[in-house]
Amino acid sequence: MPKIIFQHPDFDEFEVYAPATSHKRTVLSLAQEYKVPIMFDCQDGECGSCVVHVTDIDGGPTHMGEHMTEKEKTVLREIGKISKDELEKIVVNDMASEWRLACQMIVRDEDIRITYEAAQ
Ligand code: FES
Repeated sequence: MPKIIFQHPDFDEFEVYAPATSHKRTVLSLAQEYKVPIMFDCQDGECGSCVVHVTDIDGGPTHMGEHMTEKEKTVLREIGKISKDELEKIVVNDMASEWRLACQMIVRDEDIRITYEAAQ
């Protein structure tokens, strides 16, 4: 049961233990269930408003690479979170991206820390 810490600079941390059935759920849907106020709009990987910074639980890089759709890669590039070179490195080396869209990122069996922008 992975532990997910949702962190915002102005709020207390939310610590969530994702249920075993979470492996098909997005980070945004889990956050909504636990009333974590992550900003979002389209919920379809197009607007970029749900962008989150993802690390392992201690703030280092995560270990589980995860396929990102072309749509998510494009949005992350358009909003300036990932450069073309960084994206190529992530894909070639099967690395996890430190920037993700919460509405596209699936919960994995790894303890992680997510830093987010809050909904207004
Ligand atoms: Fe629009 Fe996630 S809510 S990209």
